[in-house]
Amino acid sequence: MHTYRVHPDISVLADYLEVPGIGFLPVNAFVIHAAQPVVVDTGLGLPDRDFAATLAAVLDPADVRWVWLTHPDRDHTGGLFALLDAAPQARVVTTFAGVLDTSNGVCLSSDCFGAPLPTAALATAENATEMSPDELRAAQLLWATIDSPWVHGVDPAKFAASFGPLRDFSPAAVLSTHLPPVTGGSTTLVATLLDAPAACPFTGPDQAALEAMLAMTPHQPVA
Ligand SMILES: [Fe+2]
Ligand SMILES: [Fe+2]
Repeated sequence: MHTYRVHPDISVLADYLEVPGIGFLPVNAFVIHAAQPVVVDTGLGLPDRDFAATLAAVLDPADVRWVWLTHPDRDHTGGLFALLDAAPQARVVTTFAGVLDTSNGVCLSSDCFGAPLPTAALATAENATEMSPDELRAAQLLWATIDSPWVHGVDPAKFAASFGPLRDFSPAAVLSTHLPPVTGGSTTLVATLLDAPAACPFTGPDQAALEAMLAMTPHQPVA
């Protein structure tokens, strides 16, 4: 993991997860530096990750007042309990909603704008402009079809309308947990997702491919 400031008020705790056969999925958590500091998501739960120690590079964990889990999937909650041990003042909140910070125009988003990327370096890049628009589009559509396979069955008009509130927000920047920071607004990101219903459906691995993936992945014996 590494950390950087994407905005004067916001630090990124950048990590990634290699998904064999798919790519390198960015896994970002964020710190909102404020009178009551907020940690947004708590990273992966892998044995070699130490979320609280990484956080300490940008904020004393004892000063954390809020932990906002964008949603309680395991790739967003890995460091939660260790962080709570180190952050006795913290209160945990979790919702299904994204958050727009009206003081700076930053939209903090979860899985919606994810994209598995070709390399670990790209997955932890400090700006999505590190990849070409075509690469970003292809990766977004791949993620949309993997993470939201229901997208092929939706009414495209209703699906497009569901982005209305986000369009109305017109955020200046989008910080997704599964994408490098996008500082040029959300217009292109949303336009790409509007093509997701008609994109090529993702076909998951069969047993042979699954076994090949497991062979590539370090694992520990189950007690
Ligand atoms: Fe998720
Ligand atoms: Fe996720």
